Parts: sequence; C-alpha cells; structure tokens
Amino acid sequence: MLEPPAEWAETMSNHDLAIVILAAGKGTRLKSSLAKVLHRAGGRTLVEQIVRTCDPLKARGTVVVVGYQAEQVSAVIEPLGAVTVLQQPQHGTGHAMQVAKRALGRAKIAVVLPGDAPLVRTETLKALIAAHRSGNAAATILTAVVADPSGYGRILRKSEATVSAIVEESQLTGEQKEINEINSAIYCFTLEKLWPALAHVKPHNVHRELYLTDAIAVMNARGETVLAQVAPDSREVLGCNSRADLAEVDRVFREWKRNALMDAGVTIQLPESVLIDPDVNAGEDTIIEPGVQLLGKTKIGARCTIRTGSVLTDAILGDDVTVEPHCVVAQSRLDDRVIIGPFARLRPGNHVKADARIGNFVELKKSTVGEGTKAMHLTYLGDAKIGRKSNIGAGTITCNYDGFHKYPTAIGNKVFIGSDSALVAPVRIADGAYIAAGSTITENVPADGLGIARGRQVNKPGWAAKKRRELAAWELPAAVR
Ligand code: UD1
Ligand code: MG
Repeated sequence: MLEPPAEWAETMSNHDLAIVILAAGKGTRLKSSLAKVLHRAGGRTLVEQIVRTCDPLKARGTVVVVGYQAEQVSAVIEPLGAVTVLQQPQHGTGHAMQVAKRALGRAKIAVVLPGDAPLVRTETLKALIAAHRSGNAAATILTAVVADPSGYGRILRKSEATVSAIVEESQLTGEQKEINEINSAIYCFTLEKLWPALAHVKPHNVHRELYLTDAIAVMNARGETVLAQVAPDSREVLGCNSRADLAEVDRVFREWKRNALMDAGVTIQLPESVLIDPDVNAGEDTIIEPGVQLLGKTKIGARCTIRTGSVLTDAILGDDVTVEPHCVVAQSRLDDRVIIGPFARLRPGNHVKADARIGNFVELKKSTVGEGTKAMHLTYLGDAKIGRKSNIGAGTITCNYDGFHKYPTAIGNKVFIGSDSALVAPVRIADGAYIAAGSTITENVPADGLGIARGRQVNKPGWAAKKRRELAAWELPAAVR
C-alpha cells in the first residue's frame, strides 16, 4: 500500500492540536518597565521566538494569553498569525489556561508553553506530542535534569514513566529540594482531562495564584496518566526570570546561529566574541574575525572577509568583499570585490559597485559609487552619484545640506577630484573632468574640463628671513634684562 507523504501525514495528525503560549505576566524579577516576553534573546523577542518554533507543528491555531502590556505583545505576535486572549488581572498560570479555553475551539490536545522559555526546539515538541499520543496520556510534561534546579518546579515521579505531582520551589519539603528533575512549564494536555482537573485547583500558595502545575496532582489522583519526557538538551528549558537568565538564553541562541553558519562553510574566529542575528546569511569560505556583529537581514556572499570590530546591519555583500577593521555599515549594498575601511562608516542607502574602494574615515550616505571608483581617505559623500573609475581625493566633502534641504551631487566616469575639495550641491562634474585640489566648486564642470576655485598663490621672496630678523631684534633687549 502507498504511504501518504510525510508532510501530509503530519498536517493530518495535528488538526486536533492547539498551541497555547502563556505570556500575560509582568516578569517582576527582571526589574523592567517592559513586559518579560518583549525582552529579546537571540535577536528576537522571547514570545516571537516561541511562536516561530511552534509554527512547523502545523497546529489548528496558536493562542497567546496576554495581560501586562497586552497591546504591545499583541502587536508583535498578531503578524505571525497567532490570536490573543486577554487575562486581566493575572491570577496565575492555571487561571491563564482557563482564560484561553474558549479560544481553543474544537482542539482536543494543546501544547502549552510559557512565554519565557524560548530555547525549546521544534523537534523536541514533536517528540513530546508523539509521546503524549502514543501513551494515551492526560498530560505529558517536558522536563529536564539539571545541576542547579533552584527556582524551578520539581517533578515527583510515580514510576519510571509517570508523574504524581509538580511541586513549586516555594512548597518544597527539605528532601524534595534534592530533586534535580525540573518542570519546563511546557506540556501537552488532553483538554477534556485538563479542564475538570483545573476546576479543582485552589490558590493555596503565597501568591494566591492558580498554578497550572497543581493540575498534575489532581489528574494523578483521578487516575489519569501523566507522563514526563526529558528534554534531550537541558538548556532547551531555560526560563528567563532574571537578566542573568536572559543573557544565558541569548548566549545559547547566538551559539546555535554561529554553529549553523560554520556548518555551512563559514570560518568564525573566536566564535564567542561574534554576535549574529537569526536572519543573517553568509556564503562558503567567508571569514568572520573576532568582535564582529552581523545584524538584521545582513547577507554576505562567498569568500568575504569581515575584519575585527565591524558592525553590519541589513547589509548586502557580494562575493570576495573585504570589510577592514572597525567599519559600521547599515542598509547598504557592496558588490563583488569591494574593499571598505578600516574605519569606514556607511549610513543607510548606499550602493558601492564592483571593485570600488572606500578607505579610512570615509562616510557615505544615500550614495552610489561606481565600478572601480576609489574614495580612500577622510571624505564625506552624501546624496552623491559617482560613475566608474573616478578618484575622490582625500578630504573631499559633498556639501549636500544648506540647513533646509538636501541636494544631489553627480560625478561622472573617470573624474579626478583633487584633495580637500568642497562640492556644493546641487552640482554636476561631468565625465573625465578634473577638480583642482582645495577647490570649492559651486558650478557644474563640463566633461574633460578643469574646475579650479581657490585663492591664487602669492610667493613673497625673503619674507620669512626678514620676519625672523625682526623678531630677533625684539627679543634682544629682553635677554639683556
Ligand atoms: C513556571 C512553573 C514552574 C516551572 C517554570 C519553568 C508554574 C506555577 N510554575 O514557574 O514549575 O519550573 O515555569 O520556567 O507554572 N503567566 C501568565 N499569567 C499568569 C502568570 C504567568 O500568562 O497569571 C505566564 C508568564 O507571563 C510566563 C509564564 O506564564 O510567561 C510562566 O510564568 P512565570 O512567572 O515565569 O513562572 P515561573 O515562576 O518561571
Ligand atoms: Mg518563568
């Protein structure tokens, strides 16, 4: 008999599944004015990371329980296709689940995740669902065995496979403190078994909250099967309750991203010092030196070198590009074999074409630099369009702003701009023209012409010697005194 395609089977089998993300809490322990799930780790907000991880599960829907800063949280997750329900006020994780009930519609099972544990991987969730289904369980808990379980709920095992209860840190007895299997707060529930159990949960704790964790003991007492599945990598369950937790979770995400790039053929030196956002890509044999940051949607071609201290945000690089040390590049395009820096600053909107060179202390903004053109030293090019094989001398400045408006500068092919020239925009320097060093150019320069605009030099023979004699005559009486 023909097997259905794997993807199809997966879609079919999860039509009864809903995802619930509990994200209503403030996150008091972070000491922040920003809701916990809006803090970032690995280049995205915590809640966005979790929604994206759940996406491939192809559930019938994703419900996010929001409360603290509900509008801001909704704004982040609604574009990702999740729906929100409001929990106001927040009476605990069990209460949050009750608030989500109506939005779950006809779902039969739910994967429930806290909004603050974003390292869980899709494969781990798939295995959790599979274990839940095959074990015919009322609840299946994702757990982890850790060296330091403090702060987490502990798992009380009934047998090798089953669980009798989860005990929160505040309610642990002396010997339970030794248990090092912790609750990740990620579960798979059979909903018709969860709701009656939750109805029996009482807010018997210092915070007077309804704990979802207490539903486990109730289910167990009612003779339901509660299973636990240990996460393959205990880091997957790290929750972000403090700034230190956030830093640790960010560190793990960054490490995974670097490893993925290294697996794809990118060399990263001193990897711990390199920070790369999730959407960044780089081609084979590209070398990334220590202390580099690759941010946003930066795309780097093959055989590029990004040298130490450079920060690239939303940059698009062709192949064989060299970014020398300490460059800052934002929203700009560098074509094949371009070399920039050291110490170049590319503000948004530039296109530097193949074989062009941008040197030290050169700033570009909304400018196009043609093939093979060089601007090597101490230059500002703003709103400029420069053709092929031109040379922009040291200290050239496009004066693109008169205090009210910005104006363009057009420089043609094979133009030579002498050092320390000010090009007062709007102005055009046509193909093949020369600008004499030190000029302040206010009028267009025709093709193959010379633009010179500076005071004429006057040499005064003997002037310096005479001056020195005069000064010596003044100093003599003083020496006598
Ligand atoms: C929770 C678990 C604990 C587990 C740990 C793992 C409970 C009672 N405890 O503790 O067993 O080891 O996670 O990280 O569940 N939330 C709401 N509404 C509320 C309260 C919380 O939506 O009324 C959300 C929070 O925004 C958060 C999540 O639920 O995203 C978990 O809450 P949190 O306060 O972080 O619980 P923990 O103390 O970490
Ligand atoms: Mg937590």
